[in-house]
Amino acid sequence: EDPSLLIKRPPVVTIMGHVDHGKTSLLDSLRTSNVASGEAGGITQHIGAYQACVSLEDGASITFIDTPGHAAFSEMRARGANITDIVVLVVAADDGVKEQTIQSIKAAKASNVPIVVAINKIDKPTADSSKVKTQLLEHEIVLEDFGGEVLSTEVSAKTGVGLKDLLEQLNLLAETLDLKANPSRAAAGVVVEAKQVVGQGAVATALVQKGTLKVGDIVVAGSQWGRVRALGDVHGVRVDSATPSTAVEVIGLNGLPAAGDQIMVVDDETKAREVAGVR
Ligand code: GTP
Ligand code: NA
Ligand code: MG
Repeated sequence: EDPSLLIKRPPVVTIMGHVDHGKTSLLDSLRTSNVASGEAGGITQHIGAYQACVSLEDGASITFIDTPGHAAFSEMRARGANITDIVVLVVAADDGVKEQTIQSIKAAKASNVPIVVAINKIDKPTADSSKVKTQLLEHEIVLEDFGGEVLSTEVSAKTGVGLKDLLEQLNLLAETLDLKANPSRAAAGVVVEAKQVVGQGAVATALVQKGTLKVGDIVVAGSQWGRVRALGDVHGVRVDSATPSTAVEVIGLNGLPAAGDQIMVVDDETKAREVAGVR
């Protein structure tokens, strides 16, 4: 890739951690809608990508990806860790390090991405953040308090305490990672989830990693292909294009790709059939 074509892109941040430690609630507080309470039983069943526009002084934005904490979804967590620049490890201060916390640490380490720890539910009377920090040390997460390099913040998704600090840490870390992509090439990215929607057909949520995805582009996603009929941003608003590190809903694929499939723009339908067919 020609380095002169690379420009700054937002960080992709995946939220991981044990079931019910408050990942979705945290994301929820970082944006403003209310996803956690609208979920079936409050259990995240899929990976969802949400773009939170962080209004720090420099107007930076961060793309957040939520993952399920349930034991059955370890593959999804691994997938989330793979497409991310930074992992936010959420640990509930009243519950401490648990099995899926440890699995999340392993996935982040395997993907070689920096971890930022969010010690959540700090509003609870039984919260014990120093215990959490000691437990993390046992799993080789050495926080700054212990002379290590891993940043941590005490937060409450409920009261909003610490959220600004967390965002500032993420923004600073992203600066040091110097994340760039070429927005002017043909788009390529990863399917985060896909579902059939009545009246729309296959709707794939994709994270654009390079290039700019546009309405009218011919895309291949796994073994599916199609012409992009419409794009929706994370708020469901129709957009004409999607730049690197943004998540978009892609409408126009002829069937459902699998989460984790690569999605890429090709020149024409012949090429699309060929690429989709050989997979
Ligand atoms: P899974 O996706 O199922 O793994 O759960 P999750 O980690 O996304 O947790 P979720 O956001 O669903 O929150 C679980 C429960 O903890 C809910 O009842 C939340 O209201 C509660 N909760 C989350 N954050 C806080 C917090 O900071 N303080 C308090 N007191 N409760 C919280
Ligand atoms: Na939950
Ligand atoms: Mg959740």
